[in-house]
Amino acid sequence: MRSSTIMAALGAALSVRAADIDFEGLPDTGLDTSAWTAGENPPIDDMVDANDFQFAAKNKLNGRRYAYYRTAALDEITYERNMHDWEKLRMNGFAFNDVSNLYKNTSILGYEFASPFFIAPAAKAGYTDDGAETNLVKAAGDENILYVPSISASLSIEEIGAAKRDGQIMFHQQYIWSDKDRLREELKRMEDSGFHAVFLTVDNTGVEGVRPRYDRYRTSGGTSHADDNTISAINELRQMTSLPIVPKGVKTAHDVKLCAELGFPAVYISNHGGRQVDLGPTAIEILLDLHRDYPEVFGQIEIYADGGVRHASHILALISLGVTAVGVGRPFYFANIYGQDGIAKLIDIFNTELDTTMKLMGEADIRGMRGNATFTNTKKVELDYFGAPLPNDISTSVYSIPEPLY
Ligand SMILES: Cc1cc2nc3c(=O)[nH]c(=O)nc-3n(C[C@H](O)[C@H](O)[C@H](O)COP(=O)(O)O)c2cc1C
Repeated sequence: MRSSTIMAALGAALSVRAADIDFEGLPDTGLDTSAWTAGENPPIDDMVDANDFQFAAKNKLNGRRYAYYRTAALDEITYERNMHDWEKLRMNGFAFNDVSNLYKNTSILGYEFASPFFIAPAAKAGYTDDGAETNLVKAAGDENILYVPSISASLSIEEIGAAKRDGQIMFHQQYIWSDKDRLREELKRMEDSGFHAVFLTVDNTGVEGVRPRYDRYRTSGGTSHADDNTISAINELRQMTSLPIVPKGVKTAHDVKLCAELGFPAVYISNHGGRQVDLGPTAIEILLDLHRDYPEVFGQIEIYADGGVRHASHILALISLGVTAVGVGRPFYFANIYGQDGIAKLIDIFNTELDTTMKLMGEADIRGMRGNATFTNTKKVELDYFGAPLPNDISTSVYSIPEPLY
């Protein structure tokens, strides 16, 4: 009697600890955490979508480490907008089509990948698993997905490069350090380690965002980022490497246009997962600005985008707005609590969602969806962002279909 009372109390205590997970306003999809034990990995079979990995990481990691990944700038309004802007979209499906031949191969800077999404650079994969970035390299290599490690990774450029599968194409992220010798040396090491391009993050102008959720745990401060991102400074940097450079963290249509004019092969629209400027616009909003002000840019330069992408429908919305490929950040770093298996599972989840959503929308070929605004109605975002819907020849509404699709 006494031991069963203790067992019941213990069970209750465990389930209370586990059920205590705050889902942070993310969709309730029926995930049952009552059998989870705080501080441990939940069963990987419980993971059926990207948000599940966030809850699992929250259950597993200590407060400091979870906060490191989850944190965002100031009141986290941009972070929340990234997560919730999708709710304003309407995805249009067309029923009378043949969807038997699925095609979602995507060319990024001339390299062929199996899917239109990639793993965005995020620091310190070692906070979730000892395999750190090598887990991401291997799973991405197995599925022919692009992974772009951060220069602030847990492992060195060489260690990450050495984990590549045969023939695996990877790019590397770089910051603009004030120490130019360091910058030059790291770019050289990226070339020597077989990386094929550099995502140059341009939204850390001298500092990084103030992030209260993580700053509470910080023990040291300081920054090594350069203050000078003028065109002449950037041009000097471009002379330091033969690798193609893609500016990452561009957050206005104006700067996207500038990147095209400066001759970059691609540009990466991102608000850094809401970690830099709070109240900044989302990728959808910046893309709408581009459609309004500089529509020619879509034909001049490859465009990538990220921020709050948690489902294939989000990927497809950005693709239909003209993006070549879409980055996913936090979910993959949360999935890394399961090591390579977690990364592989999340890639598989995104691929399955893509296959089903594309078929159900009546376009099984990603090339038919890219830049095809008829698939996404953005009127509600336009109303909110511009104060009125855009004219129909610019807007991405089903009502503006210029001619039959087929
Ligand atoms: C923990 C963490 C660390 C990050 N570190 C970097 C970094 O080192 N370099 C960089 O360019 N972006 C970095 N980012 C931004 C991501 O590349 C990406 O833009 C962002 O995570 C996308 O938003 P999402 O997490 O909602 O998918 C980081 C993001 C997170 C969450």
